[in-house]
Amino acid sequence: MRIPPLVLVLACLPALAQEKSGAEVYASTCIECHGDGKLKAPVFGNAKVWGKLVREGLDDLVPAALNGIRKMPAKGGNPALSDLEVARAVVYMGNAGGGKFAEPTLTDVARWRKKADARRKPLTPQR
Ligand code: HEC
Repeated sequence: MRIPPLVLVLACLPALAQEKSGAEVYASTCIECHGDGKLKAPVFGNAKVWGKLVREGLDDLVPAALNGIRKMPAKGGNPALSDLEVARAVVYMGNAGGGKFAEPTLTDVARWRKKADARRKPLTPQR
C-alpha cells in the first residue's frame, strides 16, 4: 500500500511541534555523562566547574554541544535532537550551574548553527 506524501507530512507535524524542554533533553541524553562526570564531563549542578563555562557564554557552549568537543559526541550522541533542543539543554545545564541564561530563541539557534558549521570547516582549504 502506498501512503500519499501529504498524509506523511501531516503525520509528522505533531512531532515537529513537540520540541523537548531543556530538562527533558538533559534527562534523556545528557545525564548519561553529565550526571556523574563520565569521561570527565562537567558535572550537572557543580557551580565551580560550570562557573567557568557560564562565563564563556552560550555563543561558545552551544556550538560546542552541537558539534561535539573532545570526548563529547555531537549533540551528546543523539542526532535525533534538534538544534533548539540541544540549546535548551545547554541553557538548562548552565543555569543549574549558576548561570542566568534566558530560553533560546530561533534567532539564537540559527546563529549558533552558523558558528558550529564555521568551526567545523577550515577557513582555508587544506592541501
Ligand atoms: C558521552 C558523554 C556525553 C554526553 C552524552 C553529553 N556530553 Fe556534554 N560533555 C562531555 C564531555 C566529556 C565534556 C568535556 C569536554 C572537554 O572539554 O574535554 C562535555 C562538555 C560539555 C559542554 C561544555 C563545552 C565547552 O565549551 O567546554 C557542554 C555545554 C555540554 N557538554 C553539553 C551537553 C549537552 C547539552 C548534552 C545533551 C544533549 C551533553 N553535553 C551530552 C560528554 C558528554
